[in-house]
Amino acid sequence: MSAPFHVVILGASGDLTLRKLMPALVGLARSGRPPGGFHVIGFSRRAKSDEQYRSEIRAALSERDRAAFDELSPRVSYCVGSVTQAEDLAALERHLQALPGGESAGRLFYMALAPQLFAEAAQAISAAGLFAGPAPRRVVIEKPFGHDLESARVLNRKLHRVLREDQIFRIDHYLGKETVQNLLGFRFHNAIFEPLWNRHHVELVQITVAETLGVEHGRARYYESTGALRDMLQNHMMQILALVAMEPPVALEPEAVRDQKVQVLRAVHCPDPEDVASSSVRGRYQGGVIDDELVGGYLEEEGVPADSEVETYVAVRAEIDTWRWSGVPFLLRHGKRLAKKSTEVRIQFRTPPVQLFNRPDEMSGPEFRRKLRDGSLCQIRPNTLTLSIQPREAITLSFGVKQPGGEMVMTPAELSFDYRQRFGTEAGNAYERLLLDAILGDPTLFLRADEIEASWRYADEIRRAWASTGRPALVEYPAGSWGPEQADELFYGCEGGWSRG
Ligand code: BG6
Repeated sequence: MSAPFHVVILGASGDLTLRKLMPALVGLARSGRPPGGFHVIGFSRRAKSDEQYRSEIRAALSERDRAAFDELSPRVSYCVGSVTQAEDLAALERHLQALPGGESAGRLFYMALAPQLFAEAAQAISAAGLFAGPAPRRVVIEKPFGHDLESARVLNRKLHRVLREDQIFRIDHYLGKETVQNLLGFRFHNAIFEPLWNRHHVELVQITVAETLGVEHGRARYYESTGALRDMLQNHMMQILALVAMEPPVALEPEAVRDQKVQVLRAVHCPDPEDVASSSVRGRYQGGVIDDELVGGYLEEEGVPADSEVETYVAVRAEIDTWRWSGVPFLLRHGKRLAKKSTEVRIQFRTPPVQLFNRPDEMSGPEFRRKLRDGSLCQIRPNTLTLSIQPREAITLSFGVKQPGGEMVMTPAELSFDYRQRFGTEAGNAYERLLLDAILGDPTLFLRADEIEASWRYADEIRRAWASTGRPALVEYPAGSWGPEQADELFYGCEGGWSRG
């Protein structure tokens, strides 16, 4: 690629733009990618000069990023206008024409906008002719992509009226995280684990996304219309699940990978309302202590109505109806204001069919065997493989070893790999990788229309059951805890319990 790309940010001064997109663009500029370089054009309703826009960005950047921004800054400009006004978009077109490359430069429109504007903005931009021209024209759509299956379908239909599917980049920033991408690498580059990766050897899979953050300042309105299920489980966690459970793609090509992901998302079993009551938990944080600091409850957050019924915690016991996974529970859990920040996947393997070790002294051999068989004694710690995604980035395999000494006593041990120790680098900005892919036109790490619809199916079913049966009831948990105790009941018999990160 030789002509500079034009990255147009619609919603130029929003929180997402300043906190995530600008550092990512600065990171790209610092590393000289893409090869032809790029221009950044901020577009929003408040009038300001290029200089004002640049200083606004600069003020929001870290010390380290400021130095790199000074290099990029001459290629940052601002254009005032509304995304739905034809004359403002005509002015944007003139602005782009006047930049190096003009209409022969590729264009990436990043919709950092209120979600209700996505379709309308795309239609207006198309009508104003900004998607025309000899070079690539692409659009990045932020989450939330719809608020249920039906609205996601409508949005897909409206976008498809003005854009081809290969021009639409639906972003899920979790796919930009190194360790999430490594799920693919780890599974399909290493032949030793793949033969074990199925119902014959795996007893259960846990996926945790725990946050210590609450509903931050100014987010209550958004959060009241989503809740934990739609904010995290429907998108980020379903993506992690898809990468853990998908079949191997035939090639590392966008459609080959996405075909396999969509298959598994479609196979997530939709339980009937009665089953939802016993296979899900929803909670809401009360006040508590996190990192030695006193924090308020969800109902005390600014903008949350006193009669709110929104969950800040969700846990489900899901199933996947495929030959590979049938009968293996996938336990998914996400909550705000939990004890610690931790995103991880834990694969728990089946235990040996016969237990030879660690019989309690007072128990006879036959009694030991009987109790193990009927599940009243859970003696064997399963082997687990933990893929820690953030903040620690690591892979840990746990197993039992003989404790030194005259007796045959087995004790847990671990083999661990830590990204930071091995590569000495900090986790990159997920948006940096994704923005580059969108500029280069690689959609592998973006969600296809059918994929996003498939992941709404399950979330919709859970939400509908909660609404129609009123069960399970919304339960409170103290901030700084690991969430409601009821979530422990999603584990049966000797399956163990939730990881503590
Ligand atoms: C966003 C959610 O998509 O992801 C937030 O809307 C959440 O509520 C955030 O806090 C978590 O992202 P990360 O990258 O910090 O795990």
